[in-house]
Amino acid sequence: MFIAVEGVDGAGKGTQISLLNKHFADQGHVVVQTREPGGTAGAEQIRALLVEGAAGRWSAETELLLMYAARQDHVETLIKPALMEGNIVLCDRFHGSSFVYQGVAGGLGMERVQDLDDFVLGGFGPDLELVIDLPVDVSLARASSRAGQETRFESKGVGFLDMVRRGFHDYVARKPQRRHLIDGRGTVEDVHERILDVVRGASC
Ligand code: TYD
Repeated sequence: MFIAVEGVDGAGKGTQISLLNKHFADQGHVVVQTREPGGTAGAEQIRALLVEGAAGRWSAETELLLMYAARQDHVETLIKPALMEGNIVLCDRFHGSSFVYQGVAGGLGMERVQDLDDFVLGGFGPDLELVIDLPVDVSLARASSRAGQETRFESKGVGFLDMVRRGFHDYVARKPQRRHLIDGRGTVEDVHERILDVVRGASC
């Protein structure tokens, strides 16, 4: 099973992915945890181009092409082989972020992202997509309290992240059978329980 966890920056993906990893490992599964952009040596090099530096460094088109260049490498050399071995792949972001960050907030449109997605992935994608949903003021406060250099997307501002949040709502509504909006408010345990409810109910 291939599961992607999505959400606005600071929504709490990292903590929830660790808990979900532990949940599956406790059941005896081998879990391969990975992330996008990145996940392989080559894709991590592309990641550095994407997440560091000035907000206006790339056009939305270039950003999208870099995301999919990284994704192609990640899918072919890590995700598909891991799934072939029967492992659970848990990915921090996947193509949902491209549909929403570049397609909706970046203004390219979901259809153009879909065209590139068809070309690169040929219909391949997660069995389950969990989108952690949190008001932007809360998520931004969390994201900006983290240290580090990877601030390029956060620095695009509240308006951009608000479009991202609304974009994720639309993204989930388009394929509700395998995409789920998870309320990110409350305690870490509350959110984990909501995620487990969805995972238990998933028919994959
Ligand atoms: P990530 O490391 O998950 O950021 P965070 O931990 O702050 O949530 O992802 C880095 C940034 O890359 C994030 O701001 C979203 C952006 N991104 C896209 O714009 N498009 C994509 O396809 C992906 C995978 C990420």
